[in-house]
Amino acid sequence: MSTTWDPALYLDFDDHRARPFHDLLARVRVADPRRVVDLGCGPGNLTATLAARWPEAVLDAVDSSAEMVAAARANGVHARRQAVEDWTPEPDTDLVVTNAVLQWVPTHRALLPRWIAALPPGATFAMQVPGNFAAPSHALARSLAAERGVTLRGELGVAEPAEYAALLAGTGAEADVWETTYVQRLTGEDPVLHWISSTALRPVRDALDEAAYAEFTAELAPRLREAYPASPDGSTWFPFRRLFAVAHLP
Ligand SMILES: C[S@@+](CC[C@H](N)C(=O)[O-])C[C@H]1O[C@@H](n2cnc3c(N)ncnc32)[C@H](O)[C@@H]1O
Repeated sequence: MSTTWDPALYLDFDDHRARPFHDLLARVRVADPRRVVDLGCGPGNLTATLAARWPEAVLDAVDSSAEMVAAARANGVHARRQAVEDWTPEPDTDLVVTNAVLQWVPTHRALLPRWIAALPPGATFAMQVPGNFAAPSHALARSLAAERGVTLRGELGVAEPAEYAALLAGTGAEADVWETTYVQRLTGEDPVLHWISSTALRPVRDALDEAAYAEFTAELAPRLREAYPASPDGSTWFPFRRLFAVAHLP
């Protein structure tokens, strides 16, 4: 079963969520792409920035979630519903961007070399995935979910940066790989719970009924408050590690 998404909840932190996308795009130097693909476009707000940067390009936005595709269309992006596992590049695909998606795709390490091999000369493939699965936020959620028979994605879903570098370089591309930990300032009540509710906890939300999910979050909330205490000024600092990998084809 695919995960259900809530586009409005996801966009609650749009500034923090947009920043890695822009940091990723800052390393893309393709000048005049014929076709730009946003793999896992989500609600389309960031896809729109691709259209603004390359107005002449054909923009292809795909996402497996009906809710996200509907939200993207409402944002003026002609998104279509497709799982990335079923996607293959068109011959004129000069740029692929996939931001915060491939952690949901356990087979992506096998897909990357196939996708890159199918791109034309001079193309760029740019990806970003969270690398925070060992962080307290995810470890706490994972163990409480496991007690309820729900498996959350583990660290093994995402590779370490050096592995992505080797994987991309192995295709003959120039690999540009780095990681950044954003020390995110969140505010309000239970902000870390709020953050992960719109992403990592979606599978728990799908697996439990409303009462069981409420009980799960009631148990998780104090543990998250302890792991990420609010400062007297109301700030909750939520460090978030993200991995970036860009392949420039010769
Ligand atoms: C965290 S959101 C990122 C959305 C957007 N790229 C952004 O940066 O705001 C993850 C997106 O990946 C999509 N997704 C997850 N698994 C997918 C799959 N197998 N195929 C296509 N899209 C997928 C989800 O539907 C969701 O829209």
